[in-house]
Amino acid sequence: MEVIVQTNDKKVARLTALVMADGLREKPNLVLGLATGRTMESVYAELVRIHKETELDFSACTTFNLDEYVGLVESDPNSYRSYMNKHLFEHINIDIANTHLPDGMAEDYRAEAQNYEDLIAEAGGIDLQMLGIGRSGHIGFNEPLSALFSRTREKALTRSTIEQNSPLFDSPEQMPTHAFTMGIGTILDANRIMLIATGHEKARIIAKAVEGPVTAMISATALQLHPATTVILDEAAASGLEGVDYYRWFFRKEPEWQKYRKEIQ
Ligand code: GLP
Repeated sequence: MEVIVQTNDKKVARLTALVMADGLREKPNLVLGLATGRTMESVYAELVRIHKETELDFSACTTFNLDEYVGLVESDPNSYRSYMNKHLFEHINIDIANTHLPDGMAEDYRAEAQNYEDLIAEAGGIDLQMLGIGRSGHIGFNEPLSALFSRTREKALTRSTIEQNSPLFDSPEQMPTHAFTMGIGTILDANRIMLIATGHEKARIIAKAVEGPVTAMISATALQLHPATTVILDEAAASGLEGVDYYRWFFRKEPEWQKYRKEIQ
């Protein structure tokens, strides 16, 4: 696991978007795994800016989102489909037919989950998977005790997740109690993973996810098993990490990050 610490959340968003853009330039038919949540909004805003400024081309790109609420139609303003349209897809030249989320209205949960896995496999697997992290340490909606090799499935949400996300609904009772989510095993199959977290309220869970023991109680700890995971944090989210000096030094010294250091000044 590689941990990058930036002075503030703006630099986190800029750096993350620059890495995503480079991935797309290197491989125009990139298969991107996408995440939702407040943290990702500023990353998508930066990506849209890069698209407009440099004509970054998404026309051959395919995307798979991590998760979708059960029981929300696509057009519901709180569906993750609506989120993706609003924050990213409407502003770039992606073919909407190449953008995928689980169907929250599917009646046969098992069939929908298998179909999603099949679509990812048909696309050749995910090249770059973006992740946020929930307060419970979940990635996607892999709540505590999700099997570390789990695949896409329907999952009941914890009280902590419902408390975290219900303020985004007009009234908190509208928040669904279940969601489809890629499994931890599905996520670990990606070639490269980037997890983004900002703000003091993420510091405690980031310390556990990055430096704590691997446990199904905190699904993000499974990323320690992945050979190419980068965690990008602001100072606030990194404030509980024991190795923070080493991580700061690494970003300053490592040649791979040199060109980005200049671009995010
Ligand atoms: C939701 C998503 C997660 C995401 C989390 C982070 O729960 N299902 O994939 O990581 O939000 O949210 P935020 O960035 O708003 O803290």
